[in-house]
Amino acid sequence: MLSRDENHILTQTDQGTPMGDVMRRYWLPALLSEEIPNADCPPVRVKLLGEKLVAFRDTGGRIGLLDEFCPHRLASLFLGRNEEHGLRCVFHGWKFDVAGNCLDMMNEPPDSDFKDKMWTKSYPTVEAGGVVWAYLGPEDRIPPPPNFEWTQVQATHRHVSKNRQECNWLQGLEGGVDTAHAPILHRAITANTDRAGIAVNSNFVVGSAPALEVDTTDYGYRYVGVRALGEKGNYVRAYHYVMPFHQFRPRQAAGYQGQPAKPHVAGHMWVPMDDENCMIYNFIYSFGEEPITEEEWQEIERGYGRGPQDILPDFRTKGNIGNDWLIDRQAQRTETFTGIEGINAQDVAVQESMGPIVDRTRENLTRSDMAIVAARRMLLEASRTVADGGDPPGVGTSYYNVRAIESVVPIGVEWRDALMPDMYPKS
Ligand code: FES
Ligand SMILES: [Fe+2]
Repeated sequence: MLSRDENHILTQTDQGTPMGDVMRRYWLPALLSEEIPNADCPPVRVKLLGEKLVAFRDTGGRIGLLDEFCPHRLASLFLGRNEEHGLRCVFHGWKFDVAGNCLDMMNEPPDSDFKDKMWTKSYPTVEAGGVVWAYLGPEDRIPPPPNFEWTQVQATHRHVSKNRQECNWLQGLEGGVDTAHAPILHRAITANTDRAGIAVNSNFVVGSAPALEVDTTDYGYRYVGVRALGEKGNYVRAYHYVMPFHQFRPRQAAGYQGQPAKPHVAGHMWVPMDDENCMIYNFIYSFGEEPITEEEWQEIERGYGRGPQDILPDFRTKGNIGNDWLIDRQAQRTETFTGIEGINAQDVAVQESMGPIVDRTRENLTRSDMAIVAARRMLLEASRTVADGGDPPGVGTSYYNVRAIESVVPIGVEWRDALMPDMYPKS
């Protein structure tokens, strides 16, 4: 349970708020590279931490991320013409480069130097892992690039997508670090179904309620769910939480959508658009030799409920809060625990069902919520650190090395001894 004040601090990310100041110390996913696929392509709108922005790729391939509204009379630059190394407002023809410099003013006489005095807000970007990342913080605190293992593997070994969730970012993150819900919310209640779900005979379900452990690190924490399988040992799922909103989970055991064991890791980033909407970036990658083919990925995405056919033009899913996530009561009786199609669609449904910003003063937490409590503590602590002029966790490079791992560990073997080398493969 949190106080009302703490809940406000954690959930508000506009400019000048404590958590807004924390978020502005990290590289933030702003859009997918494929949304601005080539030079001079149409600009796109971006909403990040309550700020309305416009992204474009100029003639030289450089990316601009500007204030959406033209500084002349505030027309949207989304309508702009992306032409010859700049984005031109269609109202009176002011033109800006990727750094926000004004290059030209069509409503001013040729001898006017007013354009040299005019500029618009622009934010630095880097492109990594098929994502355009933006930095909205103080210039002198810009962190090293977001070199997660997934952004560094070959493009053939990685896939990334995004979909929008209509609630506060923290509800998404808290669902992500809550491993206890997985074999309940996502359960397939019969083997006799084609619908995606966690199988009744899987270690996940057989191992029942997990014992949780959380180890704090300088990037966030690692956490495990340990499920007892009797003589076979303990099924250990080891995850990472990287500040402020990254979750990494293993996807290696045989049985995911009927597949054999694979060296795969998946995860999400819950990026605040504003206080009542977030964009979920979903990634999956292979750290082995084999790539993840386009076909394989499409199949995975469908299982999560976000295949291409499931996504609306504004990145919401077709099943959404406006239509009760297309819950199918017959399927709920006979096939899956929820009757909602798609694993992550189920996550989105429960998180949105709490309301746009859940009232955390009304909760009753248990030991199974340990990782959620740890994330809140860490975020609140970070807000104090940043307010005092310090650096929050995870702005260094220690997360470059993290990998999520799952394994059955023999009885009597401590999971850290068994798994830590693989959880930090490059150290
Ligand atoms: S509003 Fe953009 S040039 Fe006038
Ligand atoms: Fe889930």
